[in-house]
Amino acid sequence: MLVYGNYPNVRLRRNRSSEFIRDIVAENHLHVHDLVYPVFILDGKNRVEPILSMPGQSRISIDKLLETAKECQNLGIRAIALFPVIETSKDLESVHESYNSDGLVQNAIQELKANFPDLGVFTDVALDPYTYNGHDGITDIQDYVLNDVTNELLVKQALSHAAAGADFVCPSDMMDGRIGAIRTALENDGYHNTGIIAYSVKYASHLYGPFRDAVGAKKGLGKSGKTSYQLNPANSNEAFHETAHDLAEGADIIMVKPGSIYLDILYRIKHEFKKPTAIYHVSGEYAMLKLAADHGYLDYSGILLESMLSFKRAGADMIWTYAALDVAKLLNN
Ligand code: PBG
Repeated sequence: MLVYGNYPNVRLRRNRSSEFIRDIVAENHLHVHDLVYPVFILDGKNRVEPILSMPGQSRISIDKLLETAKECQNLGIRAIALFPVIETSKDLESVHESYNSDGLVQNAIQELKANFPDLGVFTDVALDPYTYNGHDGITDIQDYVLNDVTNELLVKQALSHAAAGADFVCPSDMMDGRIGAIRTALENDGYHNTGIIAYSVKYASHLYGPFRDAVGAKKGLGKSGKTSYQLNPANSNEAFHETAHDLAEGADIIMVKPGSIYLDILYRIKHEFKKPTAIYHVSGEYAMLKLAADHGYLDYSGILLESMLSFKRAGADMIWTYAALDVAKLLNN
């Protein structure tokens, strides 16, 4: 029960009257270890390809990824998330590349683990970098993503990541039943401590545009995009059902995505389930801040820290953001 007195005995501004007291009474705190840095990787050596729609971010080869990992470690960032850019011609067969033990992601995991064993490695489980049309799964002739066929491939993909040494596999595909299928396969193969971060609540958002640019998965999605598997932005009860199923199927950590315009969902999910919860500050959110700041219309550092705090306030335990290095530098200062 909140007990209020009256003005002037009560003046709420007293606790805001100097910096030290503002710091002491702050209700939420952002830490460098809250941050996860998503990185785009590609084949080859010494490659750094800037992503136009995400100023400050690049697609990088594995040797450069190791430099980025070192930087994360120096800054105190504890984990990175890998997103592959697959440049080989994508025909119906190329989805097999998603579980190639000698593939781009699998090699990147091994290199990271060999060089930075203490840095957490999270991997994306979904087929969109590998399919010719950019959908997260196998489609039928009407471009409908087939659930159970896709799950079989996601299981293989997740196992290949686990075998390479991934700490957490992160299904972002939104198929029904994929968490259970992946968990069972991991258990059967002895990967008891390979965790699952489930993109439980992933909305069919227009904020993923720059990401799809970055990985080259924009072309063939068709008119309805990913709406037959990602959540309708009109819904919030459905977010509970998705989360409840993923937890029952063995998810260790759940995610809400995107961040800024879904804080109501994050708040409700965190308070209902009280589980470790991640928020993804997605490519479009990053691009909006960055581009406005680059034009001088917003103060980048200010709006960045404010955005991150809004996630903490709403209940996030972990924040995936392309601005992770920038945020870490600000916090370390
Ligand atoms: C695809 C995937 C997407 C993102 C992460 N994994 C895009 C999509 O669903 O089309 C989006 C991330 C971002 O926009 O930053 N499996």
